[in-house]
Amino acid sequence: GRPIALGDLAAKKAAGEPIVMVTAYDYPGAQVAEAADVDMVLVGDSAAMTVLGYDSTVPVTVDEMIMLTKAVRRGLTRPLLVADLPFGSYEASDADAIATAQRFVKETGCDLVKIERGGTSVDRARALVAAGIPVVGHVGLTPQTATSLGGYRAQGRTAEAALAVIDSALALQDAGCALLVVEAVPSEVTAALMPLLEIPVIGIGAGSATDGQVLVFHDLLGIYDGGAAKFVKRYAELRSAMIDGVAAYADEVRSGAYPAPEHGYAMPADEAARLRE
Ligand code: KIV
Ligand code: NA
Repeated sequence: GRPIALGDLAAKKAAGEPIVMVTAYDYPGAQVAEAADVDMVLVGDSAAMTVLGYDSTVPVTVDEMIMLTKAVRRGLTRPLLVADLPFGSYEASDADAIATAQRFVKETGCDLVKIERGGTSVDRARALVAAGIPVVGHVGLTPQTATSLGGYRAQGRTAEAALAVIDSALALQDAGCALLVVEAVPSEVTAALMPLLEIPVIGIGAGSATDGQVLVFHDLLGIYDGGAAKFVKRYAELRSAMIDGVAAYADEVRSGAYPAPEHGYAMPADEAARLRE
C-alpha cells in the first residue's frame, strides 16, 4: 500500500480504529515492523538501553540516534517514521531544538520528531512546528527526566499530579503537536484526558482508552534482558531462541558436526587433480 500519512492517523482516530506503533532500531527490525503491518515506527531513545547497553536513555547522543534512524529508514516504505530527539539536544533553546530536529529530518528522512515533557518543551514543540517539522509530544513518565520524577514509576497518581499531566498534554496540543504519547499513567488519567484531545494519542502503560498503543520492540519480543515495566506484554521469547541457536552452533563447531560437506566449496575435479600434481 501507499505510505501512511498523518491524515490517515486522524482518520483512524475518527473511526475508532486503533493505531499501532512499535519501536525499531535497525534495518531488519524496521523490515519486521513493516511486514507486521504497523502504522508507525519509533526510533526511540530506548535504543540507549535496548541496543547500546547504557543504563538509562540519558547518555545516548544525536550521532548515535541518527545512525540508528538511518538504518530504520532504509527498512521502511509504508509506516510513518518518528525519531526521538535525545536528552540534551533540544531543551536549552528553540534554536537548539530546530537545529537538532533539522539534522534528523535531513540526514535520516524521518517524518516526525518526538520530544519529552511539558514545560519548556511546549515552547520547543511550538518552534519546531513553526519551522515545519511535525512533532510528537510525550507526557506522563518521561524517561529522560526520570530522576526528577522519582524514578521509573507511574505518573499522575494524585489528583494534582494527574492535572499536571493533563495540562502538559493540552499545552502540547495547543503548541501544534501532531500526536501525543502518554506513558505510565493510571487509566483514570487517560479517561480524563481523552475527551480533551483532538490529536491522536498513543499510549504505553496508559490503559486501553487511547487511540493507539506503542511498545518497545525488544520488550515485546523478549530480546531485552533488563527488567520489564508492568505494561510490557511479551509476545515472543526471542532472547532464549537466539541463545539456543548460538549454543547449538557452538556445540556443532566443537563436535565437528559443522561445517558439513554441503556447507563448503569444491574445485572442478580436473583442477583438483592438477592441484595434487
Ligand atoms: O524511547 C522509546 O521507546 C519511547 C516509547 C516507549 C514511547 O519513547
Ligand atoms: Na523515548
